[in-house]
Amino acid sequence: MTADIAVIAHRGASEDAPEHTLTAYRQAIADGSDALECDVRMTADGHLVCVHDRRVNRTSNGRGAVSSLELADLDELDFGSWKAPAGDEERPDRGEAYALEPERSRVLTLERLLELVAETERPVGLAIETKHPTRWAGRVESRLLEVLAANPVPGPVRVMSFSARSLQRVRAADPALGTVQLMRFLLPRHRDGGLPAGADIAGPSVRVLRRDPGYVARAHRAGHPVHVWTVDDPADVELCARLGVDAVITNRPRTVRDQLRRL
Ligand code: G3P
Ligand code: CA
Repeated sequence: MTADIAVIAHRGASEDAPEHTLTAYRQAIADGSDALECDVRMTADGHLVCVHDRRVNRTSNGRGAVSSLELADLDELDFGSWKAPAGDEERPDRGEAYALEPERSRVLTLERLLELVAETERPVGLAIETKHPTRWAGRVESRLLEVLAANPVPGPVRVMSFSARSLQRVRAADPALGTVQLMRFLLPRHRDGGLPAGADIAGPSVRVLRRDPGYVARAHRAGHPVHVWTVDDPADVELCARLGVDAVITNRPRTVRDQLRRL
């Protein structure tokens, strides 16, 4: 029943390691993730970096908005120390990754993440979320497509966004790229399982499914796979498995994969 549910690591194995660092992504790959989720933001000098928040304050020792800093400024910051490693004795497989300290703390560019995926022995997918794309009037999407074209990876690549406009831009530029419409809640016009033009895959919060479990069947009937976030709680994993979702996006890929295998 559950073998077909893909496990997508949210910001890497971000329960264990600092989110959006190479260490977190290496760990996610070692944990058996089918794909890696990352948020991309554009720096003041036009680079795409993997950072969730508008500002760097929470996840680094710096301050300020990503959009006001250049890549060289971000390169000076420590994006790892805010999150101390958890008990390694429980997870001896993590030792090698934690020994690579610069990878644990350096800002990650999208290019470097794509390199990591390209170097990986098995195909690993990517789910790349455009953050605050409207601010840049299409530059985030065009840069993203340039970077993807220059750094091909063997696994599937999908672009995700809360912004339907961002996905429409991607679709217009590259109709072959999969697109995921993220949804914190269901708008009345999407309750029947339909999606805005430009989106193929439904990306509801797991809270949507708790309130409205029938949504998965309606989205499937409308022809849309369902990728759910952020699925960390065992009860939510069980719910997603029961409803037959296509992918779960989680901060704890190994734990979730293990639970899915047991169900
Ligand atoms: O995978 C979708 C999810 O990441 C959206 O929320 O805030 O974690 O980017 P957020
Ligand atoms: Ca995200």
